[in-house]
Amino acid sequence: MADAPWWAAAVFYQIYPRSWADSNGDGIGDLQGVISRLDYLAWLGVDGIWLNPIHPSPNDDWGYDVSDYLGVHPELGTMADVDELLRATARLNIKVLLDLVPNHSSNRHPWFVDAYSSRDSRHRDWYVWADARPGGGAPNNWMSVFAGEPAWEWHEPTQQYYLHNFLASQPDLNWWNEEVRDAFKDILAFWFDKGVAGFRIDVAHALVKDQELRDNPEATDKDPEQVRRIGQQQVYNMNRPEVHDVLRSWRRVCDAYPAPKLLVGETYVYEYEQLASFYGTGVDELNLAFNFPFIFAEFTAEALRDSVERTLAALPQHATPVWTGSNHDTSRLATRWCGGDDRKIRCALMMMLTLPGACFLYYGDEIGMTDVEVAFDDLQDPVGKRRWPEGAGRDPVRTPMQWTPAPGAGFTSAEVRPWLPVGDHRGRNVADQSGDPHSILSFCRALIQFRKSSPDLLYGGYTALPGPSGTWGWRRGASTTVIVNLGDETAETFGIEGTINLATVADRTGEEVTGAAVVGPWDGVVIEAATATSPPP
Ligand code: GLC
Ligand code: CA
Repeated sequence: MADAPWWAAAVFYQIYPRSWADSNGDGIGDLQGVISRLDYLAWLGVDGIWLNPIHPSPNDDWGYDVSDYLGVHPELGTMADVDELLRATARLNIKVLLDLVPNHSSNRHPWFVDAYSSRDSRHRDWYVWADARPGGGAPNNWMSVFAGEPAWEWHEPTQQYYLHNFLASQPDLNWWNEEVRDAFKDILAFWFDKGVAGFRIDVAHALVKDQELRDNPEATDKDPEQVRRIGQQQVYNMNRPEVHDVLRSWRRVCDAYPAPKLLVGETYVYEYEQLASFYGTGVDELNLAFNFPFIFAEFTAEALRDSVERTLAALPQHATPVWTGSNHDTSRLATRWCGGDDRKIRCALMMMLTLPGACFLYYGDEIGMTDVEVAFDDLQDPVGKRRWPEGAGRDPVRTPMQWTPAPGAGFTSAEVRPWLPVGDHRGRNVADQSGDPHSILSFCRALIQFRKSSPDLLYGGYTALPGPSGTWGWRRGASTTVIVNLGDETAETFGIEGTINLATVADRTGEEVTGAAVVGPWDGVVIEAATATSPPP
């Protein structure tokens, strides 16, 4: 598959810049910190990094409220740092994705400041304004995602409501306005021309709103928990079909570059068909779309297999699936899927890195970092502050990267209090694990290296294999077989002849398999079959 694009089998690594490496001892991670740790990423073997927003922002939603799309947040660094990062990553052949937040800006963005100033201001129509209902009250029933409050904010001086699907300080842009569309094309071009390889698109499904502002239908018992919590199905304040026009126009911008740029969407939808729609024909919308049904699948062989096979069946030809288990909004895989159990964490990594398509690791996944308990007084996330004590929001998954067992975790200096508390850095850190051939980190690195050397794992198709319940086996390409046993009993699976290339239990590597492959509880193996696996009955 020499003609496959670079991202089609890539391993990406998501960096939450405030939390990864602090270069100047102020307790906040920054771009120089990222630059200083690039050798680690090269050693691990990742092909690309995605940085959460780096732009100026009042930080009401930690960078997802952008006040200048063409700038750099002073706490994170300068434009010179971005240029240095791009040069340094290019030398290591690591691509850089930034985070584009087109659904809304900060209310302190000059566009909104102007829009807010009067009804006939230049940028008024760049945002979604609406009159009160006859008799008063919000224009419709739309609820904000975060706050459990209406998505409309009344603006007394101009006697209209504006829409905010997230915080009131994150007004939604009006994607029916051509000037908004043009402005974002210019933003894309600005960063692409600098050498950024692509963007992760924040709430890519949400940009366009119903032009008639129709009421959302109420949630039903059958809806996923996230929908029930909001109380309504988000079919009119997001998820409109017209968003695909926007994505297609961006794809044309990306494909016009000699080395085409990459778009990966935060497509927060719950149905596989809907997920698939963001790939368009397979070549004309997003290159990659985050798979939330997979992220939220239960960690059982049956549920994961079902999720993977439904994903593969739904996606159009030429579309690349994305496997990920953690991000800055969701409980980490080591906690949510694995309850902190190392055996399960290894199985999860093995699965994600041996399925066909692109894999996104979230910083810390590679050392089995778990969610961290954050006390109320330490909370930074507006969602956590609102949901406490029912939930702690997203801070537990945004704590400092655990580099060393020393105070400050090698993230920041020992004297300073990091912006979020450090987790179990003595139990899990890069320094200890990189020196231990049996650690999760060494295993994760071996998986990535093996994947890179294996045309089957990079480009081979997926074939389901039979096996006892609790196990899941699949073949990639002609001769590579993966089996994970997500159960407490040792399992005898199908007949196969070959050699174990990689195992979650280190001492099985190199073992010859003849007859039924035996896989211990919470164990996984990658087998190179000398003879092709017999096809499933
Ligand atoms: C996305 C981001 C999340 C942010 C929200 C609003 O879901 O991933 O962190 O709070 O959009 O921008
Ligand atoms: Ca810093």
